Amino acid sequence: MRRLSTALIGAALFIPAALGAAPAQAACDPGERAIRFSHVVADKGHPKGEAAAEFAARVNAAFEGRYCVEVHASSSLFSDDEVLDAMVRGDVEMAAPSLSKFEAYTLAFRIFDLPFLFQDIAAVERFQTSPEGQAMKSSMRDKGILGLAYWHNGMKQLSANRPIKAPADAAGLKFRIQASDVLDAQFRALGAEPVKLAFKDVYDALGDGRADGQENTWTNIYTKKFYTRQDGVTETNHGIIDYLVIVSRSFWEGLPAADRAGIEQILIEVTHEYNRFSFELNELAKMRILENGGTVRRLTKGDRERWIDALTPVWRQFEGEIGARLIEAALAANRG
Ligand code: LMR
Repeated sequence: MRRLSTALIGAALFIPAALGAAPAQAACDPGERAIRFSHVVADKGHPKGEAAAEFAARVNAAFEGRYCVEVHASSSLFSDDEVLDAMVRGDVEMAAPSLSKFEAYTLAFRIFDLPFLFQDIAAVERFQTSPEGQAMKSSMRDKGILGLAYWHNGMKQLSANRPIKAPADAAGLKFRIQASDVLDAQFRALGAEPVKLAFKDVYDALGDGRADGQENTWTNIYTKKFYTRQDGVTETNHGIIDYLVIVSRSFWEGLPAADRAGIEQILIEVTHEYNRFSFELNELAKMRILENGGTVRRLTKGDRERWIDALTPVWRQFEGEIGARLIEAALAANRG
């Protein structure tokens, strides 16, 4: 085991003071049209939580007295397995689920779950801004959901209640996964047992034996304290968690065109400004885990190659459906 130097990580970080500065959510006035924005993560120190709070603050300032974005963080309104149906029913206007959570509505986002496909979030961004990535935002249009913007989180790491270094160490363990069949296949390829659970249940599941381990980004592992229930976190960077900001189509198309354009412009600006900080926020969360006594295991080049060999055969199971051309476009994004 090698402990990362917190001084080293800290020196490389640039987190602007503006992050975390969005005012606490005030209640909407009775005359304002409420736009409920539901998400499942922490509101502070997290790329999605920070971006959602800032988006709300800016819309509320620009449309004072007319629209009011109410952010419901930490699954306080809907959990991730409820929010899409709730949006179609008209019980919530906005959300930003991870790209692994759309399987009941579209299989278009499966490409983002293929292990070791994207080398980093910069490559993910290049793919998302390509014509293929942009077209995916409309993949749920017929079901009443529109994608407006991609928000970044970061690379996934693996944690468990025993040390994980080699792929064989995961065999026989139960891993909590998001509701994605690609992620199910990924853990089966390791001889592990995948368990689909909502994000709000992960902390408890790691304590009561429903799950021995999980995969997530540093910000999720730190802000939801998963590392306190695990032997350590292995820095595998084997996959990604990113988000699609979605709106209910009936809500969105029902807005006056000028209001829709104004709200969308704010979303574009917040997306542009806040996506830049996701890497730093994740590095900061890794540093906090170490400062709080957590263990981080790094992989050597050889270790990493063993993980790549163990997990990339999963691509074959899904490439017929995802399409070799799309996988090639993702690989091209790695090349810049
Ligand atoms: C998870 O379920 O682990 C993540 O998708 C949660 C999130 O929204 O980052």
